[in-house]
Amino acid sequence: MKLNADDRLFVLTGAGISAESGLATFRGSGGLWNGHRVEEVATPEAWQANPELVWRFYSMRRRDAMAAEPNAGHKALAAIEQKLGERFYLCTQNVDDLHERAGSKRVHHMHGTLFQSRCERCAVPFADKGIYESADTLPLCEKCGHAVRPHIVWFGEIPLDMDGIYRELERATVVLVVGTSGSVYPAAGFVGIANQRGIRTIYVGPEEPLNADAFDEIVLGTAAEMLPRFAS
Ligand code: APR
Repeated sequence: MKLNADDRLFVLTGAGISAESGLATFRGSGGLWNGHRVEEVATPEAWQANPELVWRFYSMRRRDAMAAEPNAGHKALAAIEQKLGERFYLCTQNVDDLHERAGSKRVHHMHGTLFQSRCERCAVPFADKGIYESADTLPLCEKCGHAVRPHIVWFGEIPLDMDGIYRELERATVVLVVGTSGSVYPAAGFVGIANQRGIRTIYVGPEEPLNADAFDEIVLGTAAEMLPRFAS
């Protein structure tokens, strides 16, 4: 991927970039957790019906992410950011912290972050690595006593700072999308916005995403295999 001195790179990543760090994708490998579809434990309705189940799911994901290490794909994006500085913007659908641990700075987690929680009522996110796996250990707000939930954007909720994302898309000159199936909107629509502006779009992943037709280039291969070539 050749970039000119005045190019601005917008990167969108999905679960696939963390696959080679050992974190399962959602729609591969059956996409089930304890017999539940992920969509069934990642909704406001699931939270209302069974907060213990939801917290067990996110506690498991916290454990898995803490045990994982960034891979060559995460590191390559951090190396590209080193070169581009503020002309680089990384929007991730992932809630793990592997981009940050690889050295990325300009990262926006549009679907929230695994290591923050927030009170349902006070709504202010705070750092939290807690593991909550039984009904009597579920966290309550220290200030108001209401339930504390994961700081995650669930299905049916609005992704974080969409205005900021669209601003970056408006000024990007190249859009690079890595490891996302193209099935969850609004992220799956970013490539369409790039097309309206006539800018270059590239997809990297081992298989074509659902929105493959929208890309100028499809680079078939894994993130850890392909992204280091982009960084050199
Ligand atoms: N390198 C790059 N891509 C990979 C790799 C890899 N090593 N392994 C798998 N992939 C690709 C798959 O081919 C697939 O297209 O990663 C994609 C993962 O797709 P999904 O599981 O659908 O994940 P994602 O697109 O990130 O899901 C979007 O849906 O569940 C919600 O909110 C959750 O952020 C998530 C959103």
